[in-house]
Amino acid sequence: MRKILILGANGQIARVATALFLERSDIQLTLYLRKSNRLKLTNSDRLRIIEGDVLNADALEAAMAAQDVVYANLAGRLEQQAQAIVHAMDKIGLKRLIFISSMGIYDEVPGERHGSILDPYRKSAKIIEDSDLDYTLIRPAWLNDRDEIAYGITHKGELFSNQDATVSRKSVADLVVKLAMTPDLEIRNSLGVHHA
Ligand SMILES: NC(=O)c1ccc[n+]([C@@H]2O[C@H](COP(=O)([O-])OP(=O)(O)OC[C@H]3O[C@@H](n4cnc5c(N)ncnc54)[C@H](OP(=O)(O)O)[C@@H]3O)[C@@H](O)[C@H]2O)c1
Repeated sequence: MRKILILGANGQIARVATALFLERSDIQLTLYLRKSNRLKLTNSDRLRIIEGDVLNADALEAAMAAQDVVYANLAGRLEQQAQAIVHAMDKIGLKRLIFISSMGIYDEVPGERHGSILDPYRKSAKIIEDSDLDYTLIRPAWLNDRDEIAYGITHKGELFSNQDATVSRKSVADLVVKLAMTPDLEIRNSLGVHHA
């Protein structure tokens, strides 16, 4: 059974992804988050919950033991978080990382220059791209909470599509589940995700 570790599991996309993972697969999920009492989950023997901060190296490494995939759904100190994740994965010998970033980090959005607000996203992406991990970066458009799966992807080097429309968190979660469940899909790629 495939084992997936979700970092920042109380994040909005992560909660939708957790539901999709449980619905669609026989995966074993480990939810890693600060303040675990906030999680509202039905009991499942396929769920393990670990309370921890991604910047706590010992807790992070312990959570990574025996996992197949790390899915990071974080915000805030992304540069430090990316460093901590790459370091811990290297140490454990774990390769597959799916990391939520943002559109605009490569100035790939036509007619728009995202300023320094995206610096943590740019710096964390660079740390991951410079690692030797089997990563996939996900760069969503602005997000919404609609109950729909309707999206397209663009690759690094291509212009972002349909940048003025919002894309649902459920669409991003769908992509995360596909990437996590399919070995070798979009390895060492950075994917823009737009509404389609
Ligand atoms: N809003 C948009 O339209 C948009 C568009 C593109 C990309 N994005 C980005 O996509 C990412 C994911 O989106 P989302 O909506 O799922 O974000 P979210 O709900 O803000 O989730 C981020 C999670 O990161 C956790 N976190 C932060 N620092 C942590 C640490 N040191 N250790 C453990 N967990 C930590 C937070 O935990 P706590 O709850 O404990 O604080 C939070 O649950 C975010 O970075 C967001 O900015 C957003």
